[in-house]
Amino acid sequence: MSKAYEIIDHQYDVVVVGAGGAGLRATLGLAEKNLSTACITKVFPTRSHTVAAQGGISASLGNMGEDDWRWHMYDTVKGSDWLGDQDAIEYMCKEAPKAVIELEHYGVPFSRTDEGKIYQRPFGGMTTHFGEGTAQRTCAAADRTGHAMLHTLYQQALRNHAEFFIEYFALDLIMDEEGVCRGVMAWNLQDGTIHRFQAHTVILATGGYGRAYFSCTSAHTCTGDGNGMVLRAGLPLQDMEFVQFHPTGVYGAGCLITEGVRGEGGYLTNSEGERFMERYAPNAKDLASRDVVSRSMTIEIREGRGVGKDKDHIHLHLEHLGADVINERLPGIAETARIFAGVDVTKEPIPVLPTVHYNMGGIPANYHGEVLTLKDGNPDHVVPGLMAAGEAACVSVHGANRLGSNSLLDLVVFGRAVAERCGELIEPGQRHKPLPADAGDACLERLDRLRNAKGDLKTADIRLDMQKTMQSHAAVFRTGDVMQEGIEQLKKTVASFDRVSVSDRSLVWNSDLVETLELDNLLGQAMATIESAKNREESRGAHAREDYSDRDDDNWMKHTLAWYDGKGGVKIEYRPVRMDTLTDEVDVIPPKARTY
Ligand code: FUM
Repeated sequence: MSKAYEIIDHQYDVVVVGAGGAGLRATLGLAEKNLSTACITKVFPTRSHTVAAQGGISASLGNMGEDDWRWHMYDTVKGSDWLGDQDAIEYMCKEAPKAVIELEHYGVPFSRTDEGKIYQRPFGGMTTHFGEGTAQRTCAAADRTGHAMLHTLYQQALRNHAEFFIEYFALDLIMDEEGVCRGVMAWNLQDGTIHRFQAHTVILATGGYGRAYFSCTSAHTCTGDGNGMVLRAGLPLQDMEFVQFHPTGVYGAGCLITEGVRGEGGYLTNSEGERFMERYAPNAKDLASRDVVSRSMTIEIREGRGVGKDKDHIHLHLEHLGADVINERLPGIAETARIFAGVDVTKEPIPVLPTVHYNMGGIPANYHGEVLTLKDGNPDHVVPGLMAAGEAACVSVHGANRLGSNSLLDLVVFGRAVAERCGELIEPGQRHKPLPADAGDACLERLDRLRNAKGDLKTADIRLDMQKTMQSHAAVFRTGDVMQEGIEQLKKTVASFDRVSVSDRSLVWNSDLVETLELDNLLGQAMATIESAKNREESRGAHAREDYSDRDDDNWMKHTLAWYDGKGGVKIEYRPVRMDTLTDEVDVIPPKARTY
């Protein structure tokens, strides 16, 4: 097959796939270490989905009230519903202040306090004194924090001479017989050429797969391409059942309305005008963690207290904040609400609904970013040559539920960590072993098969089937019966992919083929998600089972590992949660929050 396609070969010390916050931070760190680095990205770097992150990045800077990284760690372990790996959480929370100051020095234009310090707002689940007070921990650049970070990181990467392969679609990993990752295949969308990148390490920073669902805050590009490549390489994904619904997506459109709105004093009401969060979470109220708020909203709607003609959504108020606060701190939200809901936020509430926002699950990795698999009974076997960072990875710092603003932090802390690890493992310019003779062949066979697919079903129709099934059968609340029905439907959808048709046969800007390849990636992740969710017979974090409504630490305090056979079949195994912390500095944290 490789003879049918001309292949352009490249050699780099490291290849990063993805140019969002994690990919750019990794690329910058690698370039600073003089490791030759290629960053491959299917969209222009500053259009990566990190650009849409609004509310901010958490770090216990203590600029607007007392704070401590141990309180941040406590909140994150608790927020994860005890599924987070505590060594990784300690690492992230301790590194956070340094990571944010580093961003400031790189040039991120953070909002400022009157004294000129980085402005910080409260976010859900962020407390002081181990749950007693409210922490103002989320560092913000108005409500466009991701945008500011992405532009700054891209500029810094260019300044350090990182090489970018922009609008290249990564197709598959190159794995050798020993299970070592040796590189990645990619397709240049602009001129149709095929590229084989050889590298000592491939870093997957390809983001989440929100587009497996019908309504999500994620960009259309969020198809989890790295996760798809990992599944095809015969490696597992971890904790895929944990899908976060953000409480405030714009009703109908799904666009994000930042939690920062509630951090600035916004609140939710039902059809009776009641601030119902006071009933569900008397202390944290509207700033309870996202799983709690999303479930409470869903209950209000189910019990007939939704707003609107169909009583199927909730109101988010910020009118009382006044135009000055809104214009200074939430200008993007005002614009989004005007365009997507036709609402003037200084006068009327925004119609909102819980919407898929984030995937806690992904590629299993340790806190260095090294990808893990189960091998010879070892659940922490490191896959040589393969790393992952950002939403694509499951480190797992978020466990069963991520706290708002811990995502931007995860991107920069672990984007930096993978670069550090590569610096320890790779000498700049180190010699490459020859690639296996058939390197890339299987990938090109798949590409060629899909490019020439002559079935009777359109990619968009198969995708819609998948999205509708996921939306209704792996939702905020789940039951075994509903998920089993979803599994059966989804298996039919997977089988229908054999009948896909691609009408454009060219290799230049063939968006029909790109979407088909993306759908192939999504189908495996959707299957892994719903099977893992059906398998986990408890409720934990974002995984709320009506038929198993309690958390069951005796049986389920473990990570799910899911392998996919490419035909609708999912195999499940487990990995223990890492309860050991890195240092004794966390001993002040109340044991109950660490040792469940
Ligand atoms: O609500 C938000 O601004 C989203 C932040 C996050 O998901 O971390």
